[in-house]
Amino acid sequence: MNIFILFLIPYVAFAKLEIEIFGLAKCPHTNILFKNQLGPFFAKKNHQKLADDVKIDWHIIPTGTKQVNGKVVATCPHGTLECELAKFQACAKKYSNFTTGIVTVSCIQGGKLEDIEKCLENHEKREEIRNCGVSQHGEDLLFGEHMMRSKIAPNSYHIPWVQINGERNTEAETDFFKIICGFQQMKNTCSSTSQ
Ligand SMILES: *[C@@H]1O[C@H](CO)[C@@H](O)[C@H](O)[C@H]1NC(C)=O
Repeated sequence: MNIFILFLIPYVAFAKLEIEIFGLAKCPHTNILFKNQLGPFFAKKNHQKLADDVKIDWHIIPTGTKQVNGKVVATCPHGTLECELAKFQACAKKYSNFTTGIVTVSCIQGGKLEDIEKCLENHEKREEIRNCGVSQHGEDLLFGEHMMRSKIAPNSYHIPWVQINGERNTEAETDFFKIICGFQQMKNTCSSTSQ
């Protein structure tokens, strides 16, 4: 066997599917992606197992920063409330596993501060998330998401932005599961949809 083929086999067999999602807390199109698609899908018990070769990550981001009393504070295109929600979303992500995280973040998405309590009511770490959401720690986590955008998707000029193995996929930004469920690695996760 040729040495080239020897190198190729493990590469094909272990091809990973890496999906990165970027959104804004008060953006109508991000609302559709999270509230109508990601949240309801992963809330279903039979959809909660991702294959080992699949990574789905999301980032609710600010779009800039400003200095306030010598501190770096995130800025958001739809105003202060958007950043406030995004802080809670960053904290919910930190204090959750994948499915609980994406469901909680989708619940907070697009809403009001008064509605957050309802999104946290059954969450084991609600106390931590409540405190984190109004603290410097939440601000730091949100800044971390901002930095992730420049690291993972430096060319993203549109939000929501969905990358599959490093490449933007515009169709996945509007009809996420139509595209994602077409990948072999998502077959088992998606096949329980019909139940
Ligand atoms: C995620 O966390 C929730 C709440 O603690 C738990 O019910 C669920 O089983 C966890 N899922 C996984 C895959 O660990």
